[in-house]
Amino acid sequence: MRHVAFIAPRFLENTLNYVRAFASHDEVTLSLISEDPETSIPEPLRPRIAGHYRVSQCLDAAQLTAAARAITRGVGPIDRLAGALEQLQLPMAEVRDAVGIEGMSARVARNFRDKDRMKDVLRAHGVPVARSALASSVRDLRKFVEQVGLPIIVKPQAGLGARNTHRITTTAELIELVNSGAGPSPEAPAQVEEFVRAREHTCETVTIRGQVVWRSGTRYFPTPLEVLETPWIKYCVLLPREPDLPEFAAFSAVNEAALAALFGDEAPTAAGTALTHMEWFLREDGSSLVNEVGARPPGAQIMPLMGLAHDTNFFVDWTGLIALDRFTPRVRRWAAGAAFFRGQGQGDRVVSVTGVDEVLAEVGDCLVELRAPKPGMARSPSYEGEGWATVRHPTTEGAKEALLTLIQRIQVHYG
Ligand SMILES: Nc1ncnc2c1ncn2[C@@H]1O[C@H](COP(=O)(O)OP(=O)(O)OP(=O)(O)O)[C@@H](O)[C@H]1O
Ligand SMILES: [Mg+2]
Repeated sequence: MRHVAFIAPRFLENTLNYVRAFASHDEVTLSLISEDPETSIPEPLRPRIAGHYRVSQCLDAAQLTAAARAITRGVGPIDRLAGALEQLQLPMAEVRDAVGIEGMSARVARNFRDKDRMKDVLRAHGVPVARSALASSVRDLRKFVEQVGLPIIVKPQAGLGARNTHRITTTAELIELVNSGAGPSPEAPAQVEEFVRAREHTCETVTIRGQVVWRSGTRYFPTPLEVLETPWIKYCVLLPREPDLPEFAAFSAVNEAALAALFGDEAPTAAGTALTHMEWFLREDGSSLVNEVGARPPGAQIMPLMGLAHDTNFFVDWTGLIALDRFTPRVRRWAAGAAFFRGQGQGDRVVSVTGVDEVLAEVGDCLVELRAPKPGMARSPSYEGEGWATVRHPTTEGAKEALLTLIQRIQVHYG
């Protein structure tokens, strides 16, 4: 038996996918750490939970450490400490260090969480990345612009969801950023990067003790930044039917080198048994650059999409990998995709949603799940909008067409 402690933090739908998946493995003893009370664990799952510890702040490493110690006393030593959220990765690693749990240490977790350090480590290992710097002052920012020129990207050092990510194209915009107070300071340094004009892809890689055992990839349409910059654009993710498209095949070597660099000396340990989510740029000249890497499952519905494309439950596959160091490489049989519905207009609430019935008729069988936004919902700040749909089709073109139909027909308005 392997004892896994999973950090929830709330028992929401997506998190419960992970809890159920860990619970589905007979060889796993499962403990949970959450902000929600034990009573929020759905009834059918409760008999599978060996231990539960409630914390008020799941991102607080000290609270998590107390929780891990309490679970160790109550249930037994923890073999694996896991959590799916990006913001959990560093505190979780600090807990491993403090309690002595096998897996990624804080030193290596920082390679993934700190964008500046990530780029430095990658560059030092010859992995192609955009020119970048950590700016702690407006002077640093100006110096970077002198060296690299415009346009540039200014973003948080430990960003998420492309929040506070700015594309600066002109000197006027640079001055505006500085005058708005959003410029870098010693208290709030910013990651500054040369702006890369490229298509954005992802590469999901399963490694066991640092060895690549399986890969899958998606393409973003358009880029998250373009979605945020352009109010009428909706965002889609496409997982193509062909596992060996030339652009993905060409990226494999870069992917492998990047993971080796970031896992570093912990690659051959439990830290190197992971599903990583790498975002990368493909430029028109065919060259590729690594943008960022998460040592965690991907968001943007990519987990369900990987399940759909490979006829598997990827949550079960991931939890088996993390808990039991086990992974069966999956064969791709389908193309899959996700469309995200964002509204148009001013206002902070959804006031109307149209086109849902038409779309059901038109997209038909290849629609897997549709979560249409509903009037009254608060406007989402995210490029993922207020609702989404997933599709699956025998061909890449078919999946792409279905996504286009979905985002064209379903119209959401704010008011
Ligand atoms: N150097 C760059 N050149 C061009 N675009 C960039 C660059 N850096 C970031 N972007 C754009 O901004 C988006 C968000 O940046 P990044 O992925 O680094 O941060 P994030 O906040 O962790 O994102 P997320 O959580 O959405 O993946 C990217 O998906 C891309 O569209
Ligand atoms: Mg990103």
